[in-house]
Amino acid sequence: MVERELSLSFLRIVEDAAIACAHTMGMGDRKHSDQVAVESMRKTMDTVAMRGTIVIGEGERDEAPMLYIGEKVGKPPVNGDHAYPEVDIAVDPLEGTNLCALGTANAITVMAASEHGGLLHAPDCYMEKIIVGAPAKDVIDLDLPVAENLKRIARRFDREVDDLVVVVLDRPRHEKLIGDIRQAGARIRLIGDGDLSAGISAAVAGTGVHAVMGSGGAPEGVLTAAAMRCLNGEILGRLVVKDEALRDRIKSMGIKDPDATYTARDLAPGKEILFAATGVTEGNLLRGVRFFGDGVRTHSLVMSHDSGKVRFVDSIHVEKRAKGYLRLF
Ligand code: FBP
Repeated sequence: MVERELSLSFLRIVEDAAIACAHTMGMGDRKHSDQVAVESMRKTMDTVAMRGTIVIGEGERDEAPMLYIGEKVGKPPVNGDHAYPEVDIAVDPLEGTNLCALGTANAITVMAASEHGGLLHAPDCYMEKIIVGAPAKDVIDLDLPVAENLKRIARRFDREVDDLVVVVLDRPRHEKLIGDIRQAGARIRLIGDGDLSAGISAAVAGTGVHAVMGSGGAPEGVLTAAAMRCLNGEILGRLVVKDEALRDRIKSMGIKDPDATYTARDLAPGKEILFAATGVTEGNLLRGVRFFGDGVRTHSLVMSHDSGKVRFVDSIHVEKRAKGYLRLF
C-alpha cells in the first residue's frame, strides 16, 4: 500500500532536494548545502497526502528547526479527512554534505518510510558496520577477524580475496581496520564521506563494491538497512557506546540492549518499506544532477521491500517548455 500510494511522491521529494542542493555544489559551504536540502525536503513533504512522523532526521526538536525527530509531516487533511497513509519516515536530506560542498562523488538525497514502528529509532552516535550484497549476506559476522570475513565474502563472490573491493571511511579511527584489510590482501577504496551510498552500491552487482566496513553514523545505518531490505543485502551494525550517558540515552530511546548486533531486519523491521534516493554529484550508482539550458536531469532509485520493485528513474524536468528539445541520453 505504502509503495503504490507514496512512490511517486517520495521520488518528487528526493528529486527536488537534490536539484536544490546541487545548485550549491562546490561552494565549499557544507552547512548551506545541507540547509538547502532540508528546506526543500520539508517543503515538498507538505504537499504529499500522508500522515508522516520523522523518526530519523536532523536531530532532536531543540536542535533542529525542521525535520526533527517526532515532527509531523504531510499535507494537512482536507475537510478533516484522515484517510492518508500513516508512515514513519527516516531522512538524510543530504548524505555527504562535504561531498556536495566540494563537488566530489556520491552525494545523494535520501528518505525511507515504513508503517509505524518499522524503522529503529537510532541515536546520533557511531555504529560499527559490515555491509554486503545478497551473495554474502549470511556469512558475515561482526565478531570475526576481518580476514575471516573477507575470506567468506570472497568465497561467496566466487573470487579471491585480492579481487574484492572494500569501501572504508578515511578516518584515523579506522587505522587498524585498514591495516587488517591490507594484510588480508583485499583492495580498499577510501572515501571521504558517504558510507550510506557506498552501502547501497555494495548490494548492487556491477558497482565494483563488494563490502563496506568500519564505523559511521547510526542513522545512516538504519537508512542503509531500509535499502538492504529492498535489495536483499545485509548490514550488521553495533552501536558504539562511548560512555554511560550515551548508554542511558540509547535505553531511553527504547533500545533494550545497546551492545547487541543488529541485522537489516532488526534495524528496519517494517513489513512495508519504501526507499528513495537521488544523486546530487556523480556517483557509482546514481548520476549527479545535470543542469542544461531548458531544464534539469536527475537520476534516482526508488524501491520497495513489499512489492520487490527496484526502479532507477531518469527524470527530465523541463523548465522552458516552448524551447525544450529533449536529448535521449
Ligand atoms: P553528512 O552527510 O552528515 O556530512 O555525513 C556523512 C558521513 O560521512 C556519513 O556517510 C557517515 O556515516 C558519517 O558521516 C561518518 O561520520 P564522521 O564524519 O564523524 O566520521
